Amino acid sequence: MRLFLDTANVEHIKYGARLGIISGVTTNPSLVSKEGKVNYKKLVQEICSIIPGPVSTEVISQDVPGMVTEAREIAKWASNVVVKIPAGLEGTEATHILAKEGIKVNYTLCFSVNQALLAALAGAAYVSPFVGRLDDIGENGMSLVEDIVQVYRQYPDIKTEVIAASIRHPQHCLAAAKAGSHIATVPYAVLLQMAKHPLTEAGCARFLDDWCKVMGNVKNI
Ligand code: E4P
Repeated sequence: MRLFLDTANVEHIKYGARLGIISGVTTNPSLVSKEGKVNYKKLVQEICSIIPGPVSTEVISQDVPGMVTEAREIAKWASNVVVKIPAGLEGTEATHILAKEGIKVNYTLCFSVNQALLAALAGAAYVSPFVGRLDDIGENGMSLVEDIVQVYRQYPDIKTEVIAASIRHPQHCLAAAKAGSHIATVPYAVLLQMAKHPLTEAGCARFLDDWCKVMGNVKNI
């Protein structure tokens, strides 16, 4: 499973790039707004220059002509831009039009297997089931990821990749990997948590302590 960062924060994306384990970025209007009143195009272009992989950038329009016009413009911003189109009838029609033009679409705000099926049939490059938001309303978000992966596997012609989104904690990541999701897009805080374990920290401290007791100096190698 590949890891994307779910953020529009340039410093966080730069750090993810330095770690060498981030192969894409997903943004959305809420995440971009968190960065203040920015120039959307410039911000997306900067992100695209930091991470060579797919950078999902969402349209704001809700109607088909608006989504298509915006998506065509966004697609020109960088070669690795992917346009995020919300699920639904308008989004499906827009996805179909854009996919035929060779524009990569991330079919977002997906909350059902049927929506994921429409995404695949319309030619979306990615579908983003929102795990955490389903958990928030008492449903099992991860079972949606499992079901989509299972359905897609029945049809080898489907090339749409599943991005487990709305990830809230490292356990979501583990479950997405077990489910066979192609990608999980994780918030920065979750990325940091994934690397940590109290026994790793305790182990390092004890090794250092044992070394220094005998060798006296950290640099004494
Ligand atoms: C995915 O592409 C979305 O940006 C994101 O995962 C939404 O997550 P949230 O439910 O934490 O806002």
